[in-house]
Amino acid sequence: MTTRTDPAPGSARPNLAVRVWRKLLDSLPISAPRAALYWGIASLVANVLIIFTGGVVRLTGSGLGCPTWPRCTPESLVPHPELGIHGAIEFGNRLMTFVLAFVAVGTALAAFRVRRDGLPRRDLRLLSLIMGFGIPLQAVIGGITVLTGLNPYVVAPHLMLSMALVGLSTVYVRLAVHRPRNGTGRWGRRLAWLLFAVMWVVVWLGTIVTGSGPHSGDESSFRTGFDPYIVSRIHATSVQVVVGLTLVALLVLRNRAVVTLLAVEVAQGVIGYVQYFTGLPEPLVAAHLVGSALAVAAVTWVVVETYPSASADPHEPATGTGAAPLLVPGRGPSDPPSVGDPSSAD
Ligand code: HEM
Repeated sequence: MTTRTDPAPGSARPNLAVRVWRKLLDSLPISAPRAALYWGIASLVANVLIIFTGGVVRLTGSGLGCPTWPRCTPESLVPHPELGIHGAIEFGNRLMTFVLAFVAVGTALAAFRVRRDGLPRRDLRLLSLIMGFGIPLQAVIGGITVLTGLNPYVVAPHLMLSMALVGLSTVYVRLAVHRPRNGTGRWGRRLAWLLFAVMWVVVWLGTIVTGSGPHSGDESSFRTGFDPYIVSRIHATSVQVVVGLTLVALLVLRNRAVVTLLAVEVAQGVIGYVQYFTGLPEPLVAAHLVGSALAVAAVTWVVVETYPSASADPHEPATGTGAAPLLVPGRGPSDPPSVGDPSSAD
């Protein structure tokens, strides 16, 4: 059986610093695969949370509560009392960046610690680095959002990057869970990718609806000028397409991920219509925002499930029907045994 510190077959003995580092990590009270999973879940939750807090900034009209960036005002890094509650809300959202950065570092360290059969989890490492890079990028786009007076064409990519980080966190979590994926054939995978693409169109159209509506984040900010009624109808039509495709996917793929996606879409659709017919009350708009993040997570999960787990043994065929495994240079993403099995704790 593989032990925690086994080197890869045929590889050189690691140097002293690496061995000390591994010993230190091995002495932690939590196994490496479990830690990777928990940090992945923390990343997912934190990225959904910042979408929610960003929504609170917009829905309370606090978008320019700190009127400049990276300082809150030209004179001060932090808000002063004259900026009132709006300054506190906007600054609170800026502080969330540090929570995200902390979680991103933890996620990356966990990804670099976890090994299986002596091999590094390059899939998790790569994902964690991309996710980590997204945080400073997002802080800069957030700054540009403020400096452009909440221009909706800047607010939209700001939200969509957070959505992308939710998607990446979902992939990370699924690859860190030690439950094998059966995968599907080529057509199942194509259908999942089509569903994924249309969902992103739905999200993008949603941001156009928001940019044309009343919740701009500040009374002074620029609107797209589109008729909110027309863009809402276009957005709702794209949702009907995504729901139709999900029903087809349910027949073709028959897995838990698609059922979850359908449940999220139905809940999200109900919230969407109710908010539309009741004059966009803030709590419902906030719920719709969180629902959008969950929809992105669910559709990403659907795609991941169409790729079979790769075998740790390169000579052993992967399960599923003729697919390349997802993100696996050097390592298959998620094979048995289950989380917590000592044989998987490297
Ligand atoms: C899968 C289902 C849906 C998803 C993923 C989705 C996604 C989104 C997203 C991402 C936004 C932008 C949020 C923001 O920029 O802050 C949005 C806004 C909006 N959506 Fe949806 N949506 C869905 C269904 C619907 C439906 C069925 C309606 C019905 C008309 C609807 C009505 C709206 C409205 C009115 C807004 C603007 C809210 C505002 O002014 O802030 N949505 N949606």
